[in-house]
Amino acid sequence: MAITIRINRNGIEDVFQVEAKTQQTVLDALFYIQNELDSSLSFRCSCRVGMCGSCGMVINGKEGLACRTSLNQLGIDVSVQPLRHIPVIKDLVVDMEGFFSKYRSIEPYFSPRVEISEPIVASPQSGIRKDIDLGLECISCGLCLSACDVVSMVPEFLGPAALNRAYNLVADVRDDRTDQRLSVVGAPRIGVWQCHTHMSCVEVCPKNIAPTRAIVNLKRILIRRSLLGKRHHFIPKVHAIKMEVD
Ligand code: FES
Repeated sequence: MAITIRINRNGIEDVFQVEAKTQQTVLDALFYIQNELDSSLSFRCSCRVGMCGSCGMVINGKEGLACRTSLNQLGIDVSVQPLRHIPVIKDLVVDMEGFFSKYRSIEPYFSPRVEISEPIVASPQSGIRKDIDLGLECISCGLCLSACDVVSMVPEFLGPAALNRAYNLVADVRDDRTDQRLSVVGAPRIGVWQCHTHMSCVEVCPKNIAPTRAIVNLKRILIRRSLLGKRHHFIPKVHAIKMEVD
C-alpha cells in the first residue's frame, strides 16, 4: 500500500508516494524521500529517539516529533509542514533563534543563593522537588510555541517553554533570581497574563509537560506578591481565571 505524503515546502506543496512498512516513522519516510526521490528535501533531526527535540513539525495538522510519530497511524494521506510561528529557513527546517531568545530572556540557568554558607537541600521526596520535577524534562523542541494560540495573535508572548522554565527556577528555593524572573514573566504583552489557558501546548508536548500549569502557578505567585505589596510589573485589574491565593 502506498502512502501519499504532502510536504509544504516554503509555501508550495510537494507530493510524494511512500510504500507503507511496519514500524515506519514520519522521519523514516522523510529519509526515504530524501534518499530515493528528492535529495533537495531539507529537514532537521539528530537523536531519532525523541530526546534532542530537533525533528518537530506539524503532521496532519498537529505538532509532533517526526521520529516518534508512526506513519501507519496517520492514514494514507499525510500532510507535513514546518512548525508554525517560527520563521522557515528551508522546507521543514525552521529558525529557532526567536524561540531561544525568548528562552534566554528569563535567564534559564540556575543562579545559586550566595548569602547562605550551606547549600539548601531540596529533598527528592519534598513537595517542592516533586513540583519542579513535573516541568523538568523539556527538550526545547518548540512544539508548544508552534501550537500556542496566543503567539499567533501576540508574537512577543514568551510562550509555554520559556514560562515553564521560568516557573521551575522560581519554584526552586535554592535559586537567587526570583525577582528578576518575575519581572520578566509579569511584564505586559510578553508575560503570563497573555495566556488564555487554551492548553494547546499541553496537548502537543512530547514529554507530557503541562506548561499551562506552570503559567497558572506564576500568575498565583505574582498575585500573591501583589497582595503583599510587592509588585512585579503589571497585574491586570480584571482577570477571567479564578485563582486561589494562599
Ligand atoms: S530526532 Fe531527536 S527528537 Fe526526533
